[in-house]
Amino acid sequence: MSRSGSGETAARVNALREKFAKAYGHRPEGIWRAPGRVNLIGEHTDYNLGYVLPFAIDKNALVAVRRKSQLDPGSQVLDFASTYGAGGELPITSITVDELVPRAVPGWAAYPAAVLWALNQLDGVRIGGLELMVDSDVPVGSGLSSSHALEVATIVALDDLYGLQLTKVQMAQLTQRAENEFVGAPTGIMDQSASLMSQAQHALFLDCRSMETQAVPLPLAQHNAVVLVIDTRVEHSHVDGGYAARRANCEQAAAALGVESLREVHSIAELEAIADPVARRRAKHIVTENRRVLDAVAALRASDLGAVGKLLCQSHESMRDDYEISSEELDAAVEAAMAGGARMTGGGFGGSAIALVKRERIEPVSQAVREAFDHAGYVEPAIFTVIADEGAGRA
Ligand code: GLA
Repeated sequence: MSRSGSGETAARVNALREKFAKAYGHRPEGIWRAPGRVNLIGEHTDYNLGYVLPFAIDKNALVAVRRKSQLDPGSQVLDFASTYGAGGELPITSITVDELVPRAVPGWAAYPAAVLWALNQLDGVRIGGLELMVDSDVPVGSGLSSSHALEVATIVALDDLYGLQLTKVQMAQLTQRAENEFVGAPTGIMDQSASLMSQAQHALFLDCRSMETQAVPLPLAQHNAVVLVIDTRVEHSHVDGGYAARRANCEQAAAALGVESLREVHSIAELEAIADPVARRRAKHIVTENRRVLDAVAALRASDLGAVGKLLCQSHESMRDDYEISSEELDAAVEAAMAGGARMTGGGFGGSAIALVKRERIEPVSQAVREAFDHAGYVEPAIFTVIADEGAGRA
């Protein structure tokens, strides 16, 4: 069992318990928590079976659940409610287990529904009727993995309640299947893994081919530094075409080189064999980004935050120029916040950037970003610091 230390989460847990009781007429059996993430470095490398270095953040999704088995044993009705933007009343959406058809559930309920569906694809597993209520403070569409946090909170809850004893790797794979097949977003395995496997004050070095992990200490306190998130509030979505197109480019590049994945390519000289210039540039990002992850792990272990910062900047340039997933707002955020190193984080096409910043520079850097956005006529960004938190568990 893991618990988040934050008092804010504790208050949300209590409020959620009350709201659940009000909506459903009795208390939940439990409440489970799953964090969002930032990715320090290693972008779009996951579905190329490469390396990533994310960490879970102190913003999370909470899911309160009660099985209907005690009161109404035969029930196959799933009741979903959410505190998202809700006033006094929390409307309940009801759907039967057999109505869980891929891509047919609209809105936020698609995420817990997707997990239920994925679990029910397993031999010998039958998740029946239940009551569920979610509450999340991971900003939606921010590139901080709000949807995966919901899915992970749901799977740890159901694993616990139904005694499934799934491993974290199995849970990551099942939530990926939920996201790919049920929600219809062709995402990789980084976000779920970060939400499930992270340790407080550490980044998670994940090899997406072997699924081996190492917790790498983040020497931020020693350097009086923080990770600042700049949410451009330009929403991104992986159901849209850009993400899938990048995946297809990478598959095309790997096929042209006769390798199973771009993970197997170690030098950019090898990429000359790719005839298509777009596929070649996309592959260049992946090959160089994998190298940067390994370099960043070494730099963190050597407590060389300056070197990490340089790698973040190189990573951003590579995503901007070779992978072409940045946006004007993300570029402006990175440029204005450059100080100790900055880059966009997550899938791209909107969402958030991160910057390494000395504590005493938080205000001036934030101000510089706000001014740059104001000057360019962009929506005001949301700027906040994040702490590397522990992975999902019972709240
Ligand atoms: C999204 C996906 C991840 C990963 C990143 C890019 O967050 O969910 O699987 O591909 O984009 O690194």
